[in-house]
Amino acid sequence: MEMNEILRAERNQNEEEESIRPQTLDEYIGQDNLKDNLRIFIQAAQQRNESLDHVLLYGPPGLGKTTLAYILASEMHTHARTVSGPAVEKAGDLAAILSVLEPGDILFIDEIHRLPRTVEEVLYSAMEDFYLDVMVGKDAEARSLRLDLPPFTLVGATTRAGDLSAPLRDRFGIVSKLEYYTNEQLAQIVTRTAKVLGSTIDEDAVMEVARRSRGTPRIANRLLRRIRDFAQVFNEGNITKEIARDALDRLHVDSLGLDEVDLRYLRGIINRFNGGPVGLESLANAISEEATTLEDVYEPYLIQIGFINRTSRGRVATEKAYEHLHIAHSDTLF
Ligand code: ADE
Repeated sequence: MEMNEILRAERNQNEEEESIRPQTLDEYIGQDNLKDNLRIFIQAAQQRNESLDHVLLYGPPGLGKTTLAYILASEMHTHARTVSGPAVEKAGDLAAILSVLEPGDILFIDEIHRLPRTVEEVLYSAMEDFYLDVMVGKDAEARSLRLDLPPFTLVGATTRAGDLSAPLRDRFGIVSKLEYYTNEQLAQIVTRTAKVLGSTIDEDAVMEVARRSRGTPRIANRLLRRIRDFAQVFNEGNITKEIARDALDRLHVDSLGLDEVDLRYLRGIINRFNGGPVGLESLANAISEEATTLEDVYEPYLIQIGFINRTSRGRVATEKAYEHLHIAHSDTLF
């Protein structure tokens, strides 16, 4: 590739990022049951000329919660505004955001479990009856002001539905868990993304990326970009299985897609705690990772593939984990 082509590629990165995201439910691969239901709710709301009911999406990171929020906006022919839970510090911040919404707009709150409680409480009336009670003035002058809002749809995303208060969770009419993708679905996504990126990729290379993406489209797309770099430098841009394997090995992504943190986690349980059970905090300390990161990002997939179990006494590594790491169960019982 010539230098100016490379520079152009660089400049196009943001546009690319956007075009990688599917824009419609038909383009969105996977989560079939959720998609089917959303189609019905969208059609029904449109027939009644109403805004879509509030939607709560939960599940591990990278499965497409944000993408779905934007798709809902485009399918409803409205706009989406996005904020992150921890960024909304005060009730007034929320009032500022809500007061600029147009009828039918979507407000997407990412990491909604991290909204401060005081902000969350103001949301209740906004969600239920489309008004806000805001306090204005100080001390003796303080009074509550009612602010009417247009009908809107709140789309909340969280990795931890259990951390939402019950009153907030109960105000979502549609609550859905996103599931890990199958290798076949990931293969479709990788094929689609390669096309958007203008890369040629062999079918067995597609499967290799899919197998090593931990059921997660965001990981699949990230790995594909890196493999594309290797292919560009070593193989005139053609992504073969050999190039993909070599790149993934160099990126320390193993045959099941486990990365260095996954492996440290598993070796931590097995070597330092004799396979468990071990409490999350102790394990996190032992391998110098945040407990919440382990719980939200790493454990869900390790549980999904049957490498660990969560028991009442702590985390336990399974026989499958020992096998994958080539550690004999008796090795640790010296
Ligand atoms: N890119 C990321 N997630 C996707 C999905 N679920 N479907 C299609 N393309 C995607």
